[in-house]
Amino acid sequence: MDKARLLEELAAEIRVCPLCRLCETRTHAVPGEGNATARIMFVGEGPGEKEDLEGRPFVGAAGQLLNTLLEQAGIARDDVFITNIVKCRPPGNRVPLIDEVEACNDYLMAQIAIIEPKIICPLGSPALKTLLGPDLKITQARCKVFRKSGILFIPLYHPAAALHRKELMSTVQADIMVLKELIDREIREDEITDLTPKVPPVCDASAEADENPAPANLSLF
Ligand code: URA
Repeated sequence: MDKARLLEELAAEIRVCPLCRLCETRTHAVPGEGNATARIMFVGEGPGEKEDLEGRPFVGAAGQLLNTLLEQAGIARDDVFITNIVKCRPPGNRVPLIDEVEACNDYLMAQIAIIEPKIICPLGSPALKTLLGPDLKITQARCKVFRKSGILFIPLYHPAAALHRKELMSTVQADIMVLKELIDREIREDEITDLTPKVPPVCDASAEADENPAPANLSLF
């Protein structure tokens, strides 16, 4: 069966998922969207208010910024796949709880298994911790390249970080360009370790999020 069909079947399951408390407060589950054969996947934290209303990921303010960043980097939104670690909105946009992330984890793993992306970008601290390990900090891991099971993971700040702290905008903009660089250049995998662009250092933007560790996801790897 083709990948688009498999993803749609999975999405249908997600839309009626009863596995955690978030199903009680959602308007729509937000499975994710994009190219079923995407080379790059972006994984955010969880749907916000607008995403919950529309059933689509990253359509609110952070999504608008993500669109702009992708455009600036010459990456078409239609070419990538965008999803979240939890598919239903946490009330009040709170950080997803560990049991909610765990309940949703099989869906994310199934999406990754179907799409087989070359690059996954966890956006922000909860996605970073879920995909790569609870001890990592987004301030230190951003733009570093992690390899697992043949996939390159390149954590990036969540676009919302730049909306809350304007001084982060140039960093967020510079960081996304590394993706373009990675796509455009033929880089031998063993040469890649740190793509942090040369931008002025910023102080810790996510200290708060880092205090809410999410579980490391070991099931795929
Ligand atoms: N923030 C996220 O992490 N995901 C969305 O889908 C929207 C905003």
